[in-house]
Amino acid sequence: MKNWTRKEFIHASLVGGGAACIAGNTRLYGQTAAKGSANGDVRVAVVGINAQGRGHMMDYCNKLPGSKLVAICDVDSDVLAKRKADCEKVGVSPKTYGDYRKLLEDKSIDAVVLATPNHQHSLQTIWGLQAGKDVYVEKPLSHNVWEGRQAVEAAKKYNKNIVQAGTQNRSSLDIMESIAYVRSGKLGKIQWARGLCYKERLSIGKTTGPQKVLPTVDYDQWTGPADLTPPRRNGARGPIHYDWHWFWNYGGGDITNQGIHQMDVARWFLGEKGLPSSVMSFGGRFGYDDDAETPNTLISVFGYEKAPLIFEVRGLPMKKGMKAMDAYRGSRVGVIVQCEGGYVQITESGNCTIYDNNNTKIQAFTNGGNGSHRANFVKAVKERKVVNGLVEECHYSSALCHLGNVSYLVGASKSNDALAESIKSSAVTKEAFGRMLEHLKANEVDVTTTQTVVGPLLKIDAAKERFVGSEKEIVAAANKSPLLKREGRGAYKIPVIQASSVAAS
Ligand SMILES: NC(=O)c1ccc[n+]([C@@H]2O[C@H](COP(=O)([O-])OP(=O)(O)OC[C@H]3O[C@@H](n4cnc5c(N)ncnc54)[C@H](O)[C@@H]3O)[C@@H](O)[C@H]2O)c1
Repeated sequence: MKNWTRKEFIHASLVGGGAACIAGNTRLYGQTAAKGSANGDVRVAVVGINAQGRGHMMDYCNKLPGSKLVAICDVDSDVLAKRKADCEKVGVSPKTYGDYRKLLEDKSIDAVVLATPNHQHSLQTIWGLQAGKDVYVEKPLSHNVWEGRQAVEAAKKYNKNIVQAGTQNRSSLDIMESIAYVRSGKLGKIQWARGLCYKERLSIGKTTGPQKVLPTVDYDQWTGPADLTPPRRNGARGPIHYDWHWFWNYGGGDITNQGIHQMDVARWFLGEKGLPSSVMSFGGRFGYDDDAETPNTLISVFGYEKAPLIFEVRGLPMKKGMKAMDAYRGSRVGVIVQCEGGYVQITESGNCTIYDNNNTKIQAFTNGGNGSHRANFVKAVKERKVVNGLVEECHYSSALCHLGNVSYLVGASKSNDALAESIKSSAVTKEAFGRMLEHLKANEVDVTTTQTVVGPLLKIDAAKERFVGSEKEIVAAANKSPLLKREGRGAYKIPVIQASSVAAS
């Protein structure tokens, strides 16, 4: 019998309910594939290699034992050529592909690592599984709730292969240990969990209309399942790359970009394995006028049974003209979990500190571990089992971001006095709003004349992954949102794996 180290024990009990999971007996929390271990190195292809994908690519060139980079793919031929040159500089010569579908026909590839924009993730995950590849998909899992569910169901259906999601905090031993600490009851019950994404997001500038697509980009493929429209942005990063995050057709703003990591950790602490029963959001794009559509300031409150999960996005600095960002109990990008007898502070890199309610440090967990997430994927492929970064967990945390955005999108502009009145019965919402107003004032936003977009409090049928309730018009509008369900287009339709449930009607 195996002798467990403390870390292994904590890890096993958090991700899979103990040794049963390690033995591969549960499919709910530990995804196990039937195929035998890969012999020799795992042959990896990285898809979407501009920024995040470049990091993956370089790691698979020479830093991840047990794997080798055999192919790279990008629909921008300029990016593809540059990255091939990067590989050659370190003595690696991967095959190059400009079309993911062609790459999937290549039998010499075991696993694909997807670092394409968000709107490609679910479709490319499903296609990868259907082609018999193991998949590492960057966060978020999806652009919308329904396609994320299809990806989860595909992982169950095509279970000869595995899927690991790029929520790397799931490999943080510090987070695992501090969750175990909280669950031991030493701090009492959780009162709330707060995700924080205070990250500087500058204006992306303003164009006068549709922009030309770069001649090196296959724009039909780049658009994939999104609506085919010309780019409406041309800031420092040009008309195609990265700034898609700030357009609803492709991304979901910073709650879905950076925030998904902290959302996932906050939900993990709560131990909630599904969607909440309600959501309400408010915010706006304040402080500058640019092309982007998504809010740079957002508060979303999710109604979970155990305790509320509050998420705060701030893209403006601490004060107009400054670079520094605000902090909440020492965290800018992080999570605070408030319990009866103290709280846990989790940093962006996944280190955790436990404090009592007088802010006196009780214990710090500083093992690190986030960095091992990619190595964990190689291990998962070899052992045919994902332990950290389960696709279903990433689905729920991605879905939270989408649900928060849907409330915002079906909201209406209101004065801040009217907003204050509408949330007065919720202490946690009121408190977060009060700090948001102070933050906006420090950025010289006139909060007496500037309106805030206030979303309705939407009820959620967590099992069906749909909005419900008596306010029929609002519920219908929310259920029609492309962030709840978008089927894709033409050759990029999302395969329907599970027709009967989840936002499907
Ligand atoms: N885990 C993390 O901490 C982390 C950090 C950064 C980014 N990310 C994620 O990585 C993804 C990529 O982010 P980025 O900043 O590199 O974006 P980016 O826009 O800079 O790069 C995306 C690349 O994908 C390519 N691409 C688009 N569609 C494609 C397709 N159909 N087939 C092949 N290539 C395609 C683009 O041409 C581009 O080169 C995002 O989903 C982001 O959320 C994760």
